[in-house]
Amino acid sequence: MSNKFVADGRLTEEAKADIQGFVTSGYGHLTDVAYVLVGFRQPGAARRWLASLLPEITSAVGWRPSAHEEKQKPRRTVNVALTHAGLEFLGASQQTLCSFPRAFREGIAETNRAANILGDYGQNAPEHWEFGGPGTPPVHACLLLHAASGPDMESMVSQYLEVIDRSHGGLAVLPQGVQRGYRPPNQKEHFGFRDGIAQPGIVGIKGQGGANVAATGDFILGYPDHYGVVAGSPVASAGEDRGNVLPAWENPFHEGRGLRDFGRHGAYLVYRKLEQDVDSFWRFAQAEAERMRSRIGSVDAVWVAAKMMGRWPSGAPLVLAPDRDETGLGERDDFAYAEHDPEGLRCPFGAHIRRSNPRDMIRPSEKEQSLSMSRAHRMRRQGSIYGPQLDFSLLSGGGALADLDRQPEARGLHFLAVIANIERQFELVQQHWINNPAFNGVSDSQDPVVGAPSASTQPPNRLVVPTPHGPWQTQALPPFIAVRGGAYFHLPSLPAIRFLAALP
Ligand code: HEM
Repeated sequence: MSNKFVADGRLTEEAKADIQGFVTSGYGHLTDVAYVLVGFRQPGAARRWLASLLPEITSAVGWRPSAHEEKQKPRRTVNVALTHAGLEFLGASQQTLCSFPRAFREGIAETNRAANILGDYGQNAPEHWEFGGPGTPPVHACLLLHAASGPDMESMVSQYLEVIDRSHGGLAVLPQGVQRGYRPPNQKEHFGFRDGIAQPGIVGIKGQGGANVAATGDFILGYPDHYGVVAGSPVASAGEDRGNVLPAWENPFHEGRGLRDFGRHGAYLVYRKLEQDVDSFWRFAQAEAERMRSRIGSVDAVWVAAKMMGRWPSGAPLVLAPDRDETGLGERDDFAYAEHDPEGLRCPFGAHIRRSNPRDMIRPSEKEQSLSMSRAHRMRRQGSIYGPQLDFSLLSGGGALADLDRQPEARGLHFLAVIANIERQFELVQQHWINNPAFNGVSDSQDPVVGAPSASTQPPNRLVVPTPHGPWQTQALPPFIAVRGGAYFHLPSLPAIRFLAALP
């Protein structure tokens, strides 16, 4: 395929100029993050706000490609994401609104989706959320701000809050609407494990294929996806596109005359604010280690926690470092399960990373097919953490647990996933892999780290840890994660933002 958007298998600068930078990069070099949740009050003010953002929005051209990459990386980035309600408020036509996939139209908090697909019920039900649920004002937009330092971030946040303030009620920052996050220097999430290691590249942006590179169309609308298909894209009518900014809608089965491709070069963003109960996580690991010692020998809380996660705190995968943490392996992502760990003796089948990406073991005898099936559901995880980090250096001596009692502040993960298909990527992983009680050789259990709390009708969630002495079944796992908010967003292309800003 070669055209103005693709040359020699790579996306052209013209294509990248249309794509928001957050679609192709999590800006890992930027440490300070704010997600500003905005509610629109007057359509005209909302459109003017979008227009004012346009010159500021970081595109995928950014600093790449460059011989001096370090020097040219931006110190601050601005991106904007919109919910379905936000698009409606801005004046998108019914034709455009209806052409979005159902998951996005309904949103993350729709009762059936939340309870039956995502496992958000009981205390995690959207009714209890800080934002994005039925009890709080609708989220229309999210401003994604990233900066290289705290002071840079402060000045960005005040700049953008002031702009919203100056709209004289035309738009508002929602209650709990300034969500702060950061990327700590040790790259660890709050349970104490290095995160952000497994991250798929995008064909045409970074890499051309292979186990760790997923199809362009799995992240950017308008390109062939995992199945070689260009997925349906939301449309607008040519008549609405007064500035003639959207590309023509092309479809081999339909003439599409008079239609414009609203979605091309856009993506979807899943945002879930997940609070972590670090105290309960480590107390469980410690109690379980004590129970196991009688049968297995000298195991400690870190060993149990690593079995739950599938990696050691340094990030070293259990498949490559089965017995102890090896910091030198902390960045390794080039492993699979079938050859070295077919029975889960190193990494339990139920471990968080083995559930959320089973790699070559969906069908044990068909490695290549399994790898391909797993690849179809990959996501780019580009979030941040919130709340103060704990010192885990004393963990093996139990010191950190005592520390926890003195640090009761809320802490957790802003889970942000960039994808092109909410149902096939995020929801499938959440429903069929993380929360599925009978998945990939395990039964009556869910993901030990992020699984939804069992409903009363289900058996308690226990992790099975295969060992040379036979399988060990843990006590019932309490929920370690509480959902505090969430939303499904569209990350529109820059032309789509221009289009929306110019709507009458
Ligand atoms: C507070 C909640 C969570 C914590 C603490 C957490 C922690 C981690 C850690 C430590 C890793 C290993 C590092 C890496 O491979 O990059 C990881 C990997 C991963 N997590 Fe999570 N996670 C959380 C929520 C979720 C959720 C909600 C999903 C999906 C719905 C998810 C999907 C994944 C995936 C796909 C991987 C990569 C697995 C692989 O490719 O091997 N995580 N997570």
